[in-house]
Amino acid sequence: MMTASEATAPPATPLLSVRGVSKHFGPVTAVDKVDLDIYPQEVVGLIGDNGAGKSTLLSLLTGYNRADQGTFLYKGAPVSITSPRESRNKLRIEMIYQQLQLAPDLTVWENLFLGEELRLWGFVSDRRTMRKRAAEVLERLHSKIRPNDLLGSLSGGEQQVVAIGRAILFDRDVILMDEPTAAISAAKVEDLLQLVRDLKALGKTVILVSHRLEDILAVADRVAVLVLGKLHCVVPNRELSIASLVHLMFGGTTQSIADEHLLAAARWQVRRGGEGE
Ligand SMILES: Nc1ncnc2c1ncn2[C@@H]1O[C@H](COP(=O)(O)OP(=O)(O)O)[C@@H](O)[C@H]1O
Ligand SMILES: [Mg+2]
Repeated sequence: MMTASEATAPPATPLLSVRGVSKHFGPVTAVDKVDLDIYPQEVVGLIGDNGAGKSTLLSLLTGYNRADQGTFLYKGAPVSITSPRESRNKLRIEMIYQQLQLAPDLTVWENLFLGEELRLWGFVSDRRTMRKRAAEVLERLHSKIRPNDLLGSLSGGEQQVVAIGRAILFDRDVILMDEPTAAISAAKVEDLLQLVRDLKALGKTVILVSHRLEDILAVADRVAVLVLGKLHCVVPNRELSIASLVHLMFGGTTQSIADEHLLAAARWQVRRGGEGE
């Protein structure tokens, strides 16, 4: 029989590694010497209480904010993340913002190619190919949206599909989602979770921030827990309960809960002084 740690052992080389990364805002230490490895084709649930530093950590990955301290490795090689453009093009990271940066009065295919139009002979907009590629991407995401639909006529969840479609179209490897269910109706949450699974099936890595712990349990391969800016632990998502996630979010490390054998497989970072592998 396999042990929990064997069954969830990730592949050897991380796609992206965060090493001793910190970010301060004046007197506030929003992210505090975080070490985290992110592997190809996995879903990482990132959880923590309000103000734990989840959004700030993502902002360091997208290049929206710059880390004060620490390093990033991309496929094992040190990289700097100094701008959103660098994060997108060099590290292939795409953030799905809640305030979707899309144009409601343009069609779906125009939004998919917004700012990155395909051109024939360098100047004529290649509408035919863009429509065709838009249709292909929507099909890969199992969506009923049509390329010619007006973006503004779509629901919040459907607009998120278009934003994610851009990540597929431009071949991003890591897709970051910060509370994606906040913008959609409860009935559509399952669609969003299915989209996360579809992204993984397409080979993508997803980092999902959500306060909806049941959603994290439904799709994450591993759960990373931030407590007051520090990475408290990373735990494989195997038969975990909401109660144990809450326990971890508030700094719990004891084994007084039902899934203690699974928590034993967690990589405790704070307790072991933030050591790496
Ligand atoms: N731009 C900012 N300026 C000042 N303080 C900030 C800024 N962004 C975040 N913070 C602070 O950093 C801490 C972490 O915030 P945040 O990353 O938004 O947490 P989370 O997303 O986990 O709720 C909080 O104390 C928050 O007030
Ligand atoms: Mg946040």
